[in-house]
Amino acid sequence: MFVLRGIYFVLVLLVVTMWTSANSNQQKAPITVTDGNWTNVLEGEWMLEFMAPWCPACKSFTEVWREFATWGYDLDISVGVVDVTENPGLSGRFLVTSLPTLYHVYKGEFRRYTGARKTTDLIAVIDEKKWADIEPVAWYRDPKSVQMGVLGAFFKAAMFIRGVYSTMTDVYGIPEWLCYVIFAIMTIVVGLVLGLLLVLCCDNFFPAKYIPLPPERLAHKPSDDREDDTDIIDDTHDGQKPTGESIPEAKETLPANPQSDDSDLRKRQLKNDK
Ligand SMILES: *[C@@H]1O[C@H](CO)[C@@H](O)[C@H](O)[C@H]1NC(C)=O
Repeated sequence: MFVLRGIYFVLVLLVVTMWTSANSNQQKAPITVTDGNWTNVLEGEWMLEFMAPWCPACKSFTEVWREFATWGYDLDISVGVVDVTENPGLSGRFLVTSLPTLYHVYKGEFRRYTGARKTTDLIAVIDEKKWADIEPVAWYRDPKSVQMGVLGAFFKAAMFIRGVYSTMTDVYGIPEWLCYVIFAIMTIVVGLVLGLLLVLCCDNFFPAKYIPLPPERLAHKPSDDREDDTDIIDDTHDGQKPTGESIPEAKETLPANPQSDDSDLRKRQLKNDK
């Protein structure tokens, strides 16, 4: 009896050890995703967390995410994590406005997951394919689109300028107002240089040519106007019987701008007819 119990105990121990060792083999920390290698998430199925070290909600969520990541192998997905402070390009691309933000990615289709956040909930999202109920992000907010790439670049630029600013104030001790003055001047200078480059480019590729009017055309210009005006007078007579007197009458009072005085001409015409 004791021997049987002993064997049973050893067997159980063996199974438990095997199970835990196998599990620890699969145990993986969340995969770090960066500005540089984020395109890897376009292949296969992913769950992505956007977090920042300073955000309290992220800190309490870290343990859940780590645990969820250990299930990644069984669920046949990759579990990733993005630190937005180090990857501003991605926080722009994914338009991350709250932390932690979760995304489900399947074959390049992005869905923002806003549901319950316990490990079991997250497992159910994948295991029971609950993610399929979520609408994918609209095309204009698609992280792999050109416009979101541009937004990402803007976020990166903003982060860069913020870095420069904090270096100026913290390392070089430049007062805040002077930083603003320097940034203002730099903005103007950069604007001027870009404007100048644009003008030079335009001049180079589309050189402006001055084509003078032939002198005789210039001299005839007033008479040309006259001809145009006569056309207009004919228009006012359209559909009416033109009287011999009214045409010269109207011609005398030709306005500089025939269109604005069109009604005037008409009134005059009516008077003449009466
Ligand atoms: C991205 O790069 C980081 C570090 O450079 C690496 O740890 C991570 O595994 C990479 N992620 C992917 C998805 O390739």
